Amino acid sequence: MPEVAYVNGRVVPLARARVSVEDRGFQFGDGVYELIRSYQGRLFRVPEHIARLQRSAAAINLPLPLAPEALRAAIDRLYQRGGFPDGQIYVQLTRGVAPRQHLPPDEPAPTLVMTARALGPVPEGDRTQGVAVITMPDIRWGRCDIKSINLLPNILMKQQARRAGAYEAVLLRDGRVTEGTSSNLFVVEQGRLHTPPQGPEILGGITRDDVLALARQLRLEVLEAPVPEGLLRVAPEVFLTATTVGLLPVTRIDGVPVGSGEPGEITKLLVAEFRQLTGSSP
Ligand code: PDD
Repeated sequence: MPEVAYVNGRVVPLARARVSVEDRGFQFGDGVYELIRSYQGRLFRVPEHIARLQRSAAAINLPLPLAPEALRAAIDRLYQRGGFPDGQIYVQLTRGVAPRQHLPPDEPAPTLVMTARALGPVPEGDRTQGVAVITMPDIRWGRCDIKSINLLPNILMKQQARRAGAYEAVLLRDGRVTEGTSSNLFVVEQGRLHTPPQGPEILGGITRDDVLALARQLRLEVLEAPVPEGLLRVAPEVFLTATTVGLLPVTRIDGVPVGSGEPGEITKLLVAEFRQLTGSSP
């Protein structure tokens, strides 16, 4: 199956896709992105991703070069060309090519790049046994709600987590949990689901929204409120969410088992419900 890319309206083999070295995305990280996935041949939550891209772009004063319907059509076309049943479409919008200076041109010509590739499954053990995380101070900026391509802090923190033998770093700001470097975080305590509220400290995850909706359908109590570090440390169940991995139980935090050290009942229930929602195999 071909890995393909879209560069400002043209679809080419991924290996042949090119952007200028003077693109502001390359030189300044001046851009925003989305990662969309498919399950068994169907793209998942495309309108939600496009809406979030629009919000991110508006937040950095960058108009979308395509109307949402046209972007949707371009995403669908690229996905069909790639043909990966379980695939990922990466969408990146930058402020385009201009001679390098911090102040952007008044009328930028944005660069829209997309790639289509396969997306491997989560290792089954990660889902059934859960993953280990470490905690770290959240060293990111004050607008984590923007899905910016500036991911240096996230990369450094993820690298540190991996070096510590952990899957993810869970980030702490002023005694509160914010999120993971590339995931949102949920805590289950006394049958209640806690997750930090939307706002500038976290990315409003699309998987997070799905999990909240599923939990409400199941009549679980849901609290979108600050999660103190203390709650994270005593909670019997913790899990992460992201487009790439769905729901992932956390069974070790800083080397300490979460609850029994196995994924909890509510987490397992939500994993099963989410699999039903996405039509992914059990
Ligand atoms: N990242 N928080 C951060 C900082 C993220 O980077 C992501 C996802 C999420 C989860 O959002 P969603 O459920 O909409 O995927 C939360 C993507 C997958 C990435 O950067 O590859």
